[in-house]
Amino acid sequence: MHVFLWIIGLALFGYVLVKFIKHRPLSPFMPYKYNFGKRRITFQKVLDLLDKTQAKVIVETGTSRSGLQGAKGDGAATIVFGKWAKENDAFMHSVDISEDSVKGSQTEVDTQNLGNHVRVYLSDSLIFLKEFDQQVDFLYLDSYDYSKDLEVQVKSQEHHLKEFKAIEDRLHENTIVLIDDCRLPNGGKGKTTIEYMLKNDWKIALDAYQVLLVRKDFGF
Ligand SMILES: C[S@@+](CC[C@H](N)C(=O)[O-])C[C@H]1O[C@@H](n2cnc3c(N)ncnc32)[C@H](O)[C@@H]1O
Repeated sequence: MHVFLWIIGLALFGYVLVKFIKHRPLSPFMPYKYNFGKRRITFQKVLDLLDKTQAKVIVETGTSRSGLQGAKGDGAATIVFGKWAKENDAFMHSVDISEDSVKGSQTEVDTQNLGNHVRVYLSDSLIFLKEFDQQVDFLYLDSYDYSKDLEVQVKSQEHHLKEFKAIEDRLHENTIVLIDDCRLPNGGKGKTTIEYMLKNDWKIALDAYQVLLVRKDFGF
């Protein structure tokens, strides 16, 4: 009986230890309980660059459909960078083609009281980006979902490149670009966009699950 209790105790301890080690919070900026997993390193870097560049206009394609509950799975970027926008007198524009995603994101925006600094638009990102009439300080591309299906992979990659080209002329010398879901089979969402950007005056600032890009002569 004694040995049995020891084994249970050790197993429980191991479980809690692994959970603790794998937990990647963005605290103190976000509450400790939210785990940003593989995106923490790039989110942290972006938050740092947003501070340094004093960004004012943030644009995201693909909104936080699951709110903060999606921190680990989707990223919850609308809420993270929306909170940064609120605290730094900036504005976050987040666009999504799905009514359900917009509803989910808007609910969290309201719950977090970010409404004066975040707007969630229901639109195809390509239409939205073409019509967007401001210079963009931080562009986050995370729409067309990637999958194991090769056809979907190519469509997702092409869509993200089209998004980039649709807004390209409103990106300035210190714009930050982040692309989600890149460290995946066949290059992930960002493959063709990154290839295009590297041929056009951009460089990789951080290469992780997400890829962060800046101009070759980025000033920060
Ligand atoms: C992975 S989720 C975005 C997650 C979000 N960026 C976050 O950090 O929580 C991808 C979203 O892209 C949206 N989407 C797919 N195709 C789109 C398109 N053509 N235009 C705009 N949004 C699109 C989907 O409806 C979905 O809500």
